[in-house]
Amino acid sequence: MLKNRSILVTGGARGLGAEIAKSVSEKGAKVIIADINTQEGQQTANKLNADFFHVDLEDSSSIQKLIKSVSKTFNGKLDGLVNNAAIATGIGGIQFEDIDLTSWDKVMRVNVRGTWLMTKAAAPLLRASKSGRIVNISSDTALWGAPLLLSYVASKGAIISMTRSLARELGSDQIGVTAVAPGILTTDSTDYVPEARHSFYNENRAILGPQGAEDITDTISFLLTKGALTLTGQVLAVNNGFVFS
Ligand SMILES: NC(=O)c1ccc[n+]([C@@H]2O[C@H](COP(=O)([O-])OP(=O)(O)OC[C@H]3O[C@@H](n4cnc5c(N)ncnc54)[C@H](O)[C@@H]3O)[C@@H](O)[C@H]2O)c1
Repeated sequence: MLKNRSILVTGGARGLGAEIAKSVSEKGAKVIIADINTQEGQQTANKLNADFFHVDLEDSSSIQKLIKSVSKTFNGKLDGLVNNAAIATGIGGIQFEDIDLTSWDKVMRVNVRGTWLMTKAAAPLLRASKSGRIVNISSDTALWGAPLLLSYVASKGAIISMTRSLARELGSDQIGVTAVAPGILTTDSTDYVPEARHSFYNENRAILGPQGAEDITDTISFLLTKGALTLTGQVLAVNNGFVFS
């Protein structure tokens, strides 16, 4: 399905990103994991026979450095970019009036500006592929308006808007840009979320019960194939029918 496709997964050290890296690797892709967490990122990459490079999405020079390494490893082209890295944990359960400026700005710098900078840096390599695909990881919290999570929800709403505009800007280069909006997953990052929020999801999905990261990776893998170009600009709520996009 992804045989010999070269794919870069940001935030692939753990959680959903690590599952995406595993899934695309099993489907024949050559994978690079990039993350701020070097130790865990290197361990995950070793298990998958993938490459690992450090990146801090807050730092544009670090992104440039990563792209140089990606270009060298993949001979000047990139078939798929998964913009997965984000501040995704420890920022919920806070009333909007109580979010501090430092935390708000960091979420925007990593989740929104980081996704833009990463996409901008990778664009020449994706163009060189002639069948480049970008999959942006949003969240269904941006679709149903989850309360007590405003900076995160705002950042994930921005990801959806950016996906639609980028699909139009990159269409003439045959680059497909899509977003997936998962619901709450059983990843380490959601351990801190109160049981009531987990139950709210589990009891209101069309497919009842919890959802693991491994349940959504086949859909993400498909979006990275050549055949997925027709879906460009779309947002897929990969949440077992909790909210429809
Ligand atoms: N877990 C869920 O329930 C869930 C639901 C919906 C959407 N998502 C989205 O899925 C993605 C992965 O989430 P997760 O649950 O695996 O979270 P996670 O916190 O386990 O993983 C995020 C990864 O991003 C990396 N990262 C953070 N800041 C970075 C930076 N400045 N530069 C480079 N890398 C950085 C982290 O080191 C980590 O490996 C995120 O975009 C998140 O918003 C997750």
